[in-house]
Amino acid sequence: MSRLIVVSNRVPDVAKGPPPGGLAVALESALELHGGVWMGWSGKSSGAKEPGPLSFHEHGRITFALSDLSRRDLSEYYAGFANSVLWPLCHYRLDLTDYARKDMAGYFRVNRFFAERLRPLVQPDDLIWIHDYHLIPIASELRRLGVENRIGFFMHIPWPPPDVFFTLPVHEAIISGLTAYDVVGFQTGHDVDNFASGLRREGIGGDVGGRWFEAYGRRFRAGAFPISIATRHFADMASEAMNTAAVRRFAESLEGRDLIIGVDRLDYSKGLTHRIDGYEKFLTANPAYHGRTTMLQVTPKSRTEVPGYTAMQREVAERAGHVNGSLGRLDWVPIRYVNRAIAQNVLAGLYRLARVGLITPLRDGMNLVAKEFVAAQDPDDPGVLVLSRFAGAARELDGALLVNPYDIEAVGNAIAQGLSMPREARRERFSPMMKRLLEYDISRWCSDFLAELSG
Ligand code: G6P
Repeated sequence: MSRLIVVSNRVPDVAKGPPPGGLAVALESALELHGGVWMGWSGKSSGAKEPGPLSFHEHGRITFALSDLSRRDLSEYYAGFANSVLWPLCHYRLDLTDYARKDMAGYFRVNRFFAERLRPLVQPDDLIWIHDYHLIPIASELRRLGVENRIGFFMHIPWPPPDVFFTLPVHEAIISGLTAYDVVGFQTGHDVDNFASGLRREGIGGDVGGRWFEAYGRRFRAGAFPISIATRHFADMASEAMNTAAVRRFAESLEGRDLIIGVDRLDYSKGLTHRIDGYEKFLTANPAYHGRTTMLQVTPKSRTEVPGYTAMQREVAERAGHVNGSLGRLDWVPIRYVNRAIAQNVLAGLYRLARVGLITPLRDGMNLVAKEFVAAQDPDDPGVLVLSRFAGAARELDGALLVNPYDIEAVGNAIAQGLSMPREARRERFSPMMKRLLEYDISRWCSDFLAELSG
């Protein structure tokens, strides 16, 4: 079996125990199975002008190879091009893109740096798997350095349609960077279609049947690999969590009210203010529910170094405060807004307590919270998922109440429909979704991608 090399911007700190997310767990177990290297940013600044040297540590059959980045790298590559250009662009937010030339140069410089550091570690039969929008140019850099191994890329976030993508001044360098891979994975067929129409519109290539594409004289494969979760593990964790003190205390604090839950990183793509407005609409249209529901919105802070994120924190807190101030009573707070991370097993228990999971991003590559919410439910008495049609997960989770998150009244109506749905209807919606998640879990996702990459 070939060794595996994974490169991602963030790398879990396995010294602190098993990684929290399903993706990190899946990649770690694939790496354990194949043996190999996981390279990426250490999460720290080197405090110097240059990135730090690679630091290596072994964990089972995995060698972690991490590097601190300089403050300039972090500002230009991470906060700049990756998160102030590619992130908003891929989430269709042209109004938020900031095309500074120096950030673009910094992005390509850091990618070259990772490729040059990786080159001496690559052995002839290694499979190389690069993750996410921070690192698109790595394959073309590796090819320039003479690496002929099979290299795959997975895009965790959406791929936009041509008219959005072509607003990027360096769109050609990004697209030709993708064509240097052997396999390019997207979350959904919609993303693949957008990518294919971009190639065609530029006249540089297109799909030639099956999953095969041609561009710039290279042949490669591209397809949809919808990412998933460790479904069985998450379901077990949720049912065990019901007996923990934290979940019990929370359940008591509800005093019999129906729980509506939302969990998201603090990000403009998540549609948080629209969601709060939707909940307000639900309450104003359904006075009978006053005092009888609690919305819990858990929103850990994120990317505080990127302009715009801090302002949004204030905006969301203000919206929640407005609803509580105008509709709350002495003995009832409509929204509990928590601005920090909560342990994953506690979250799993909270999902299971909830009558409605309210996951309404304006645009999302997949949204694993939606999948976790489903996996956490009690199969006998499941809650209802209200899900944005613009999340990748909407293509698989067809038992959800799908909503247009921009349509505030529709969101309000879906909440009311979810809360009043009879048990039998809830079960009918839940079962096929759970079946799909059990069949297609994160390890299946990982092995499918690696099978395609192995050729
Ligand atoms: C998204 C991206 C990931 C990223 C995560 C957290 O899920 O697809 O690549 O790691 O957000 O964002 P952060 O900027 O904190 O790494």
